[in-house]
Amino acid sequence: MVLPFVPFPEDPSPLPSNPPVGEVSWTLPPTILTRFHWLTVFGNAHPVELEIGAGDGSFLIQYAARHPERNFLGIERLLGRLRKIDRKARRQGLSNVRGLRLEASYVLRWMIPPGSLTAVHVYFPDPWPKRRHWKRRLVNAEFPQLAALSLLPGGVVYLRTDHVEYAAQMVEVFEAAQQFTRCEAPAELLDVVTDFEADFRRQGIQTIQSAWRLAG
Ligand SMILES: C[S@@+](CC[C@H](N)C(=O)[O-])C[C@H]1O[C@@H](n2cnc3c(N)ncnc32)[C@H](O)[C@@H]1O
Repeated sequence: MVLPFVPFPEDPSPLPSNPPVGEVSWTLPPTILTRFHWLTVFGNAHPVELEIGAGDGSFLIQYAARHPERNFLGIERLLGRLRKIDRKARRQGLSNVRGLRLEASYVLRWMIPPGSLTAVHVYFPDPWPKRRHWKRRLVNAEFPQLAALSLLPGGVVYLRTDHVEYAAQMVEVFEAAQQFTRCEAPAELLDVVTDFEADFRRQGIQTIQSAWRLAG
């Protein structure tokens, strides 16, 4: 049976009051059929950055602590990891972090208001090294279009990987997407090391980063 297309409802109105500080992670839409209304989610109009595959939150928590003037949403499909993010954010009293357990491409396509993010961070996405699994890779030929839909003009996608061939694929798909141009990631961002990155460094494995700015 084919279900009829039902358009998303308009953003909710009137707005509820700000979420109390300390209840940091769960003021999200009541249904995944609604797009985020950032003012409702964070209780302020600060710029919003997204991290996909946030893991234990090593990047998200450190970077959110450095930037209280920005809001951060972390998407992570493993519940145990999301709980760690929640614990860390509460312990540090961060009011600018939210977490969501959901498949990233669904969130990008259906839940982020178009043209609403200033940055998308993707650090050490699963490399799926076997050729027959490459179709599972997050940063594939479609990804730049999805990211472009979510970002504000001038918004940036930041990527890191330890996998040389996946790094080449990242460059290839973003070079093919004409709305993006390669740019420099700021040093203060590169200073923030993720859990996986720290592990790779300990093992002497080189990591590769790139950053891509949406035309503005
Ligand atoms: C290799 S880990 C890297 C974690 C973290 N970014 C870091 O660098 O420490 C990749 C993470 O992405 C999550 N993940 C992978 N694919 C995902 C998807 N499609 N949607 C949401 N989370 C995803 C995994 O559960 C895992 O925690």
